[in-house]
Amino acid sequence: MAEHSLVVILDFGAQYSMLIARRVREANVYCEILPYNTTAKELKRRNVKGIILSGGPNSVYDKNAPHPDPQLWNLNVPILGICYGMQLIAEALKGKVKKGKKREYGKAEIRIDPSNALFSGLPQSISCWMSHGDSVSKLPPGFIAIGHTKNTPNAAIGSSKKNIFGVQFHPEVVHTPLGSEIIVNFLYKICAIKPTWTTEHYIETACRSLKETLGKQKILCALSGGVDSTTVAALVHKAVGKQLTCMFIDQGFMRKNEAKKIKELISKNFRIKVFYIDASQRFYEKLNGVIDPEQKRKLIGTEFIRVFEEEAKKLGKIPFLAQGTLYPDVIESAVPSKVTTAHTIKTHHNVGGLPEKMGFKLVEPLRLLFKDEVRLLGKDLGIAEEIITRQPFPGPGLAIRIIGEVTPERVKILQEVDDIIVTEIKNAGYYKKLWQSFGVLLPIRTVGVMGDQRTYLNTVAVRAVTSVDAMTADWARLPYELLEKISNRIVNECPLVNRVVYDISSKPPSTIEWE
Ligand code: XMP
Repeated sequence: MAEHSLVVILDFGAQYSMLIARRVREANVYCEILPYNTTAKELKRRNVKGIILSGGPNSVYDKNAPHPDPQLWNLNVPILGICYGMQLIAEALKGKVKKGKKREYGKAEIRIDPSNALFSGLPQSISCWMSHGDSVSKLPPGFIAIGHTKNTPNAAIGSSKKNIFGVQFHPEVVHTPLGSEIIVNFLYKICAIKPTWTTEHYIETACRSLKETLGKQKILCALSGGVDSTTVAALVHKAVGKQLTCMFIDQGFMRKNEAKKIKELISKNFRIKVFYIDASQRFYEKLNGVIDPEQKRKLIGTEFIRVFEEEAKKLGKIPFLAQGTLYPDVIESAVPSKVTTAHTIKTHHNVGGLPEKMGFKLVEPLRLLFKDEVRLLGKDLGIAEEIITRQPFPGPGLAIRIIGEVTPERVKILQEVDDIIVTEIKNAGYYKKLWQSFGVLLPIRTVGVMGDQRTYLNTVAVRAVTSVDAMTADWARLPYELLEKISNRIVNECPLVNRVVYDISSKPPSTIEWE
């Protein structure tokens, strides 16, 4: 994306690097998150117009504390340090950082200097979110304090001459309500970047690059009905039209009527030819008697690849495969020097293994985008609102929401339950406010009473969460009346269910899906 000014966020192991990147993108500026030790030479080669140093869990004096390339300070590119990033500035430019005895954590009022470009247009006092132990005790030569709180005299510092600024608080989080403005000031006023990163521009550049890569060759896309794969298909179709072939594999674990709906929506919307493959029988056979969640995921993943391979062969030689990989996935897997390490909590099912095994060349036209950017892009490409606003749905589908054995009968129960939950949540106006809302079928039966009859039937859990990126999530405080309606409808309309419970656990320590 050479035509857009590039801002780089150097990641020092912050929880919030991704949030910083989102704020920058929301300001219509293109940015990438790179490892903290990216060399100054590389940043220069990429013609970086602004650098943001993220926060991080360390103290600058820790033995293994991550430090940037010392040449960074001589690049003559505007720098904004956030929290740990600001302490790095102080330390590197001959100020002092004091080890804190106590962590300052939570909301604080900061008095700022609105005559400074970084705070231009803001009131003299704003709310901000603090989370630090250390603080800057002596300013580096040439720097002034441009903000202070009750506990932190140097809560924001800057040198307009050097174009280097630091804030002790986190402007990227929602608890700093005017934080976005601070980031915007840094980008527009200090880095002098123009907001050119728009979906219109993106479509143009992506189509050009797809045409160049593909020439006259064919490309295959596996659709799932979600916003990512549909947007990929629409984008590729816009770029190369009939060279695109789409495939939709129904493994039998979709929601009620979903496979049919997706088929209709896509062919109507784009007149793209979609090969629909009903492979449910095969998947059910594979899962026969399997109750271990990881085994389920692996079996489904492998079978998916098998079906895909067989079907793709029937279509003749197609050299390229389009995939809906998003920027968060790219960062997760591609920042080798990331200071924090992530464990595999669950094996995620996607078509990642396909290109290598089958000799496909991979095309990932969304790999620079966040989910909200994909939604905007999809909208601009004319994708139906119903798909754009669809909540994420896991690759293995309802199979990982049926605890215990997956049988067609149990899938049918959950489909009905899920349909009621989604319908009621939509009717109450909550669907778009939630990251996900769904039902889980538990492997237990409990005693109930209906009319004068004793019942001994299934229990289902309702799961509804809010989240920005699925890395963390909170259970949704849905109104009791809505929960009551959902519960009443389920026990009245699903003859095999007599109990409904509401999941009130957050992630972490729980996960969003139950398996
Ligand atoms: P967890 O359960 O790990 O889920 O908190 C985080 C998010 O990822 C989705 N998810 C998946 N998505 N294939 C997918 O494409 C999968 O195998 C898969 N497993 C979980 C989940 O729905 C949530 O949004």
